[in-house]
Amino acid sequence: MAIDYSQLIPNNVDLSSDRRLQRALENWQPRFLDWWKDMGPDGTSAFDVYLRTAVSTDSNGWANFGYVKMPDYRWGIFLADRDPERQIAFGDNKGKPAWQDVPGEMRSTLRRLIVTQGDTEPASVEQQRLLGKTAPSLYDLRNLFQINVEEGRHLWAMVYLLHAYFGRDGREEAEAMLERHSGDPDKPRILGAFNEATPDWLSFFMFTYFTDRDGKYQLASLAESGFDPLARSCRFMLTEEAHHMFVGETGVGRILQRTCELMKEHRTDDVRSLGAIDLPTIQKYLNFHFSVSLDLFGQEASTNAANYYTQGVKGRFLETRIDDDHLLTNASYEIETVEDGRIVKKAVPALQALNERLRQDYIDDCAKGVLRWNKAIERAGINFEMTLPHRAFDRQIGAFAGLRVSPEGKVLSEAEWNANKDRWLPTDEDRAYVTSLMGAAVTQPGKFAHWIAPPARGINNQPADFEYVRFN
Ligand SMILES: [Fe+2]
Ligand SMILES: [Fe+2]
Repeated sequence: MAIDYSQLIPNNVDLSSDRRLQRALENWQPRFLDWWKDMGPDGTSAFDVYLRTAVSTDSNGWANFGYVKMPDYRWGIFLADRDPERQIAFGDNKGKPAWQDVPGEMRSTLRRLIVTQGDTEPASVEQQRLLGKTAPSLYDLRNLFQINVEEGRHLWAMVYLLHAYFGRDGREEAEAMLERHSGDPDKPRILGAFNEATPDWLSFFMFTYFTDRDGKYQLASLAESGFDPLARSCRFMLTEEAHHMFVGETGVGRILQRTCELMKEHRTDDVRSLGAIDLPTIQKYLNFHFSVSLDLFGQEASTNAANYYTQGVKGRFLETRIDDDHLLTNASYEIETVEDGRIVKKAVPALQALNERLRQDYIDDCAKGVLRWNKAIERAGINFEMTLPHRAFDRQIGAFAGLRVSPEGKVLSEAEWNANKDRWLPTDEDRAYVTSLMGAAVTQPGKFAHWIAPPARGINNQPADFEYVRFN
C-alpha cells in the first residue's frame, strides 16, 4: 500500500479512519518537531540533505532518495504487511492467532517493552547532536543525518503503538519520551549506553556498529511478538536499521584502512604523529562500546525474560527458524556466570537464559565484522588483530558487574586491573587525542578528513564526491 503524502502524518495504518487517534498524533507531532529543533542535529534546519524516505513498505518504495530539509522529513508510521494467517510461534499461546489488540494481562509488560525500545531512538539522536560540526566528509554527514531521521521515525513507530493501543497511559508515555534526555542527571534515558556521550566520529562508528546492533537483536525478538502490530512495526524498522550498522562497520573499516596505509607508507606504528588514530586506541574504543552494548541485554538468568517468552510477547532471534518445541519448558542452556569470584559455566533452564542466548547471537554477529576488519588489516600488510573482549570484561549489569576481568577473560585483582586498565579502555588522553582530530566539518564534495579513507562507493550509486549535503 503506497503512502499518501498529502496527509499530515504519512502512514499505511489507515490513520484517517480513526479520527481520535489521528488527532492525538497530530497533537504529539508539533512537540516532536520542537524536540527535533532543540535536541536533534544542531543548526541544520536549512540544510538540504540527500536522504532516503520511505513511501511504502515494499522493496521499491521504502528507499526513495532526494534532497530534503530535515525538519520537513516525512516521519511516517509504517508497518510491514499483515499476514492474516499469522500465528504465535512460541510460548503458552503457541499456535493461536497473533493478537491484533493487546491482551489485558499483557498490557503492562508490552507497554514496558515498547517504552524501553522507543526511548533508545530519540536518545541516540540526542547523543549525536553535535557530530555534524566535525563531520569528516559530506558523505559521512549525510549518513549521520539519515540515521538521525530514521531514529526519529522509529520513535514515531513506538509512539504510534502507545497511542493506538494503550489509551491514556500510552499518551503519557509518548509525552515522557520527549522529556527524558540522554545524559540528563534528573531525567536520563532508560538504558545506560544511551546516556553515554558520542563526542567524536570514532565513537559514532563504534556506536552504530555495536549499539545499533543491539537494536537489531531487540527489534528482531520483538518482531516475533504475538502482538502483531508490534511485530510488524519492528520488521519494517529492521530494514532501516541495516544501514545504521553498515555505516558503523564501514566507518570503522575506513579508519582502520587509513591508519594501515599511513603505517605502511611511513613504516611506523606511531601514526598519531601523522594525524591518524593508532590501532591500539581503536581497539580500546571497541572494548568500551562492545561491553557497554552487552549490558543492554540484561541479566544472564532472568525470570522476566522467561515470562516474556512464555506469554508470547518477546521471542528469540529468528524464532520460527529454530528447530525445537518453541516452549523450552524442559530445555536447558549453558551460561557463563560468577561463583566464588570465578567465571564458571553452568546449565540453567533455557527459559531463564533467553537474554544470554540473544546476547550470544549478538556476539556472533559482532564477530563477523571484526573478522572483515582483520582481513582488511591483513591485506594492508599490517600485523595486528582486532578482537572482541571477553563477555565479562568491564560489565556494569549482570553476573559480571563489579568483577575485574581482562579482555581475555581472566579474573583480576583490583591492583592488576588498575595497573592495566589504561591499556584496555580509552584514557582521558586517548579521548582528548581523538577529539583533537575532529576539526571543522569537511564540506567540500569528495574531500575527506585526513584520518579516514573514502568509502568504496557512494550512497544510492552516487559517486563519493557527490554533493550529499547543501548548506544554503
Ligand atoms: Fe532505531
Ligand atoms: Fe539505528
